[in-house]
Amino acid sequence: MSKALEGVRVLDMTHVQSGPSATQILAWLGADVVKVEALGGDITRKQLRDVPDVDSLYFTMLNCNKRSVTLNMKSEEGKKIFTELVRKSDVMVENFGPGAVDRMGFTWDLLQELNPKLVYASIKGFGEGPYTHYKAYEVVAQAMGGSMSTTGFEDGPPVATGAQIGDSGTGIHAVAGILAALVQRGVTGRGQRVTVAMQHAVLNLCRVKLRDQQRLGHGPLPEYPNKEFGDSVPRSGNASGGGQPGWAVKCAPGGPDDYIYVIVQPPGWVPIAELIGRPELAEDPEWSTPEARLNKLDKMFQLIEEWSVHHSKLDVLAMLNEHNIPCGPILSTKELIEDASLADNNMIVTVDHPERGSFTTVGCPIKLSDSPVKVETSPLLGQHNEDVYVRELGIDPDRFAELQKNGVI
Ligand code: COA
Repeated sequence: MSKALEGVRVLDMTHVQSGPSATQILAWLGADVVKVEALGGDITRKQLRDVPDVDSLYFTMLNCNKRSVTLNMKSEEGKKIFTELVRKSDVMVENFGPGAVDRMGFTWDLLQELNPKLVYASIKGFGEGPYTHYKAYEVVAQAMGGSMSTTGFEDGPPVATGAQIGDSGTGIHAVAGILAALVQRGVTGRGQRVTVAMQHAVLNLCRVKLRDQQRLGHGPLPEYPNKEFGDSVPRSGNASGGGQPGWAVKCAPGGPDDYIYVIVQPPGWVPIAELIGRPELAEDPEWSTPEARLNKLDKMFQLIEEWSVHHSKLDVLAMLNEHNIPCGPILSTKELIEDASLADNNMIVTVDHPERGSFTTVGCPIKLSDSPVKVETSPLLGQHNEDVYVRELGIDPDRFAELQKNGVI
């Protein structure tokens, strides 16, 4: 079967996570992604290695279905070869520190001149302004995009989320921009510049907290568990942040992830009152309406917890869902990697790798009926040098050998 992005060639100058997560999705959607690496390779190949002398899971889990070539962008010969690669590509993606590609000599003006159809995407920490020249990593973006100040409990410090919203979250935003630019190119015939800042992507994901910041101007936020409010949205623990109250309540046998997140929509109250053994609360005017419960949500979830602690989170999941009550058991990483339904959905997949045997990774969450994804291994460093340089760019084998000897590739 054909693939959605078949025929699209991506010059992948990305490293670490934000950029590679974007180009991995493009590869899964069918693009030919050629990762251009310095001679030492993407730094993550060697970071947090679990098996000696073998590409780390950090690398293998973010660079599936790509090809790899090495190229020394600081050599004159390297720049010439790069020029040829730019001419043959539809998309170029990079997430180096600010100004790095310009310092390599490839400004947007030059890239456009070399290939007017090129879509050129950059991921940086920040947009234009005081932070433009600053580097950024995941938690820096979480700190400056609104996530950390709103995550955690009121009496504790700001907390980083385990979800990589700054890196992979930004990668997804970049994919959207690249695909839109490719569609527009179909109309105009021209490429364009796509820029995504990690701070902006995290802020986009923190939109509802900015909603609450403005609501705060009209008084306290009654659905928050907090008793006092200052001039910014406070950390509100596990409160749902939406129009329907929710909280994580404990379950049996009381392990660190034995919790279930329960949301109490108005129609859920009667069955919940019965399930927890307090049927009288269904009709009690002190409890029967969302408004009546609003000033005692802590007490409400305490009553639910007094029941849930006697059941496993999966039993609570089944019992609540019998009544159509939205809830979610807190699944540990171990439970996720062993989850049969995620494996059936190709979201947990095992991939053969030439050096480590196999590894398990997270599959593609975007499912297209006419463009199925088969997750394939990440490339070894420079594995496709000969394919790309000799067979596709037409470099003579003697010159190829010379380039290798001279440290250009
Ligand atoms: N050949 C020769 N040199 C190369 C090369 C190649 N193929 N590829 C990269 N390099 C060089 C660059 O030219 C640059 O050198 P310079 O600074 O002398 O110009 C250097 O390698 C890369 O620098 P940088 O990207 O700043 O790496 P870093 O390890 O110091 O910083 C980040 C890492 C992630 C902090 C930084 O890249 C960054 O802020 N990126 C943007 C935001 C981002 O994506 N962050 C999230 C990462 S998950």
